[in-house]
Parts: sequence; C-alpha cells; structure tokens
Amino acid sequence: MNNAKFKILGLFLLSFTLMSGIIDLGTLFNYSISNIPEHINIGVDSAPLNNLMDDKVATLGRVLFYDKKLSTNNSVSCASCHKQELAFGLEELQGTGANGLSLRRPMRLLNLRIYNTPFKGLFWDERAGSLEELVTQPIKDHIEMGYSGAEADAPSFDDLISQLEGLDYYEDLFTFAFGDNSITEEKISKALAQFIRSIESYDSKFDEGFAMVDGTPSNENIELDFPNFTPEENSGKTLFISDAIKDTNGARIGGGVGCFHCHTVPSFTFSPESGNNGVIAEIGGSEVFNITKAPSLRDIFGPSGSLNGPLFHNGQAATFDELLDHYDDIAETTIMIDHRMDNNGIPLNLTIEERLQLEAFVKTLTGSDIYTNEKWSNPFDMNEELEIIGGTISNTFVINNENNITVYPNPATSFIKIKDIHAQNYHGEVYNMDGQKIWQGTIHADNEISINTFPKGIYSLFLFNDSEDLVSKDKFIKL
Ligand code: HEC
Ligand code: HEC
Repeated sequence: MNNAKFKILGLFLLSFTLMSGIIDLGTLFNYSISNIPEHINIGVDSAPLNNLMDDKVATLGRVLFYDKKLSTNNSVSCASCHKQELAFGLEELQGTGANGLSLRRPMRLLNLRIYNTPFKGLFWDERAGSLEELVTQPIKDHIEMGYSGAEADAPSFDDLISQLEGLDYYEDLFTFAFGDNSITEEKISKALAQFIRSIESYDSKFDEGFAMVDGTPSNENIELDFPNFTPEENSGKTLFISDAIKDTNGARIGGGVGCFHCHTVPSFTFSPESGNNGVIAEIGGSEVFNITKAPSLRDIFGPSGSLNGPLFHNGQAATFDELLDHYDDIAETTIMIDHRMDNNGIPLNLTIEERLQLEAFVKTLTGSDIYTNEKWSNPFDMNEELEIIGGTISNTFVINNENNITVYPNPATSFIKIKDIHAQNYHGEVYNMDGQKIWQGTIHADNEISINTFPKGIYSLFLFNDSEDLVSKDKFIKL
C-alpha cells in the first residue's frame, strides 16, 4: 500500500473510533488504581472514605464531564474549558460558558488525587474544600453552566436533574454505578470528583530520570544529574531546587531561584505552605491578594513544546519567559506576598542562559498519556449521542408495583438472591442488555439463582405473578 492510501485508511479508522460514542460496561477502564510511581508516592489520597475510587462511578463521571446537557444552553460541558489535548486546560484566556466568559483562567486538571485537600483548598483562591464540594459549582454558576436557580428565570439544579432523568444512558449508568437509577446532586458530585481525581500524569522525562538515579519521595538523589537529561535540563533542575545566594543588599549573585518552596518536588503539586506570589491583577482589572494555589507544574507545556494555555490566574504571561519576568522582578510595593518571593524589589538577575535552562527543565515535566488515554476522552459521538453497549431493554411491560424487589449481592459473581419478596412463588426471567432472555424459572423467598454461566455484564430480572403480570424488576451486575 502506498503512503497516501495508508494515511487515508488511518484517518478513516481514526474517525471511526472518534465517532464511536459507546460506553462498554463489560470492559471498564481502570480509574481506581493509581499509576503513581514509587519515587513520587507521597502517601496522600484525597479520596474521602465515602467516595473511594470505583471504576463504575468514574465511568459515569467521564460521561458527565463531557455532557453538554449539563449546561442550560446545551452547548457547554466541563470539557469546553478543560480540554484533554491541553492537559485539561484551555488555550484561551477565559472559558466561554453558557452566559459569558469565565472570570479567571481555567486551571489544568491533573494529579489532584495526591493534592492535600485537608490542608489546601481548590480553585486559584482555595475557596473549595474538596473535589466533591467543587465539582457541582461550575454547573450552578450562572456564567459557566447556568443552573444557578438564582436569577429570575434561571433553571435550578433540580431542573437539571429532571432533564437528566429523561436520558436513557443515565438510567443505565446511575444504576450501574450506584445500584439504583435515582439521580441526585450527591451522586453527580461523587462521580465527577472521581473522574477528575483519576486524571494523572507521571510518564515524563523527569520521572524517567528520577527513577534512574533511584529517587525517592523524600528527594534523595534529586541533586544528582539525571543521565537522560541534557546539561541544560540538569542546570535548570538545579536552579529550580535550590535557593538564591544573595549579597548583603539582598541582590542575587548566584545559586538557584527557589521555585521548589511552593511547587513541591518531585510531585510538582502545590505545597500546603505556599502563599501569594505577587500576581494580583484580575482579568477584570481589580486587585486580588488571596491567589495561593496553582495547578500542578507538570504539563505546563504540551508534548509539542508549546504552552497549554497562558499562565497565571489572569493569563498575564503568554510565554514562559514572561512568567520569569514576573518572578525576576517582583514589585517592592506588592503587599501580602509570600516572604520567600519578596526580594525587596531587587531583581533575581536571571541571565538569558538561566531562563533557557529553567524552561528546558519545566519542559521535562510533560507526559504523554494524559493527552491520549482513551479513558479520559470524550465518550460522545459527533451528534452528542452515546450508546451504552447492548442498549437497554425496551420495557413494554406495565409494572403494578405489587412487590418492590432488590437483587443481592450486587454486583454478584456466582449467584443472586432476592430481598423483600413475598412468600408466594413468582415466575422470573433474566434478560441481558441486548434484550435476550437468558434464564427463566420459578422464584420464591430465599432461593438462589446461579449465574455462574452468565457472561460479565448488566442484567435485568423481571418477576411475573400467576396472571403473568409483571410485578417487579431490578438490575444487577455480573462480575
Ligand atoms: C466556562 C469555563 C468552565 C467550565 C464550563 C468549567 N470550568 Fe472548571 N474551572 C474554570 C475556571 C475559570 C477555574 C478557576 C476558577 C477560580 O479559581 O475562580 C476552574 C477550576 C476548576 C477546578 C479547580 C482545579 C484546582 O486545581 O484547584 C476544577 C476541579 C474544575 N474547574 C472542574 C470543573 C468541572 C467538574 C466542570 C464541569 C462540571 C468545570 N470545571 C466546568 C472554568 C470552567
Ligand atoms: C511563594 C510561592 C511560590 C514560589 C516560590 C514560586 N511560585 Fe510559581 N506560583 C505560585 C502561585 C501562588 C501561583 C499562582 C499565581 C497566580 O496565577 O496568580 C504560581 C504559578 C506558577 C506558574 C503558572 C501555573 C499556571 O498554571 O498558570 C508557573 C509556571 C510557576 N508558578 C512557576 C514557578 C517558577 C519557575 C518558580 C521559580 C522561579 C516559581 N513558580 C516560584 C507560587 C510560587
């Protein structure tokens, strides 16, 4: 095959996968097990006990993250401002929401699983205490996704829930994730928080190099030159991880530039002790002094070497060099600034060579998986549609709710039983997600139905009475 044909075939296959719009509940991606390497493991898992990581819940979170139906104008999803190809950041200064532009620059979303939320909040000013608390806020924000319920005729979160209740795929996904199909704010928050918590980037050149010198989370051997680094990258690392040497007037005459105080090495998440770095202008022109959080310093640059969007909460640095201009020369007048930044208005005197070294080093913090891994990608097709594999059973039966049953254990491996069943006998039928009947028999209190031979997947159990009326149904998962 010649090259051109090969390319066309490649594009065809690519567009085929992009158009797929399918969630396969039988083969879930791994979200729950972190890929954090030994040399970084800092022992923090921000997942709270009532929302431990679970592949089913995170799968629902992925769909919610990409669903434009979560905004009042049906055209903004979380991913509109947090793009996978930009490490979940944005190239523009402000994100376009349902009712206008975001007031600050959207943050890149990565490695928040090891971000120490008991000590440090989220958002640029740390006003959110946890991911669970944060993730429904953009939905309720009038500008961003619009379900505020506050303005005169603004729809509320309850209106959103009613809208989601009308979508078949959520019926399946909420049942799959939480065991019943009710949609609540708490479930939406748990699922979105898990999806975001799963986003990780630990496959950078820095990680390779640190592993090569037998690095540890306590930074053993961090000072050693990494064998896979260029001399420029190694010098940049030294500048980043060491303090300045100053003369008696406070002017820097050598040594490093102290970035590590706030951008913790080797994780590059934000340090709990860090304060304001002197970037005090809001996009709208007012002044703000409580910006004490930055996204991870990993993946500032994309794999091609261009920035994943402008830098700082107001986007004032369009290039890394402009960012260094700020750190080099922080105005003396700046108040409420972290003392480790405050050089009393005396410039760091970064040489052009040092600037290039720092940039080269920060570029080694870029991974590749985060940009391409399908588990974090958009599951919807080009028409914003989504199919849960096998589809749902078309339910033409009338349920007269004589008997509200629950199948347990759920998920199940070898057998299921039925809770709350009346003493009488019922006729039971089990259907797979393709709507094929795969089992039938008599069911009464306490009997076990063996499901050993069922393939992995979601099933529906229907109960019929003597007059062949459907009296109850429930879904269960075979692992
Ligand atoms: C219109 C653009 C926009 C949309 C839509 C949006 N965000 Fe954001 N996101 C932002 C901005 C701007 C910030 C920083 C806000 C601030 O600090 O005031 C942010 C910050 C965040 C953070 C904080 C990260 C950190 O490290 O502290 C998380 C998490 C987040 N968004 C998740 C979401 C989720 C989940 C959704 C969808 C429900 C969403 N965002 C929708 C613009 C957006
Ligand atoms: C005193 C703590 C502190 C020190 C020291 C510090 N920073 Fe920061 N850094 C911050 C804060 C706070 C922010 C967010 C500021 C904002 O956007 O207003 C930030 C933001 C950044 C960002 C932009 C992140 C983004 O997503 O926009 C980069 C890049 C950065 N710092 C690099 C450095 C480098 C390089 C050094 C060393 C020269 C350094 N920082 C030293 C606190 C610090």
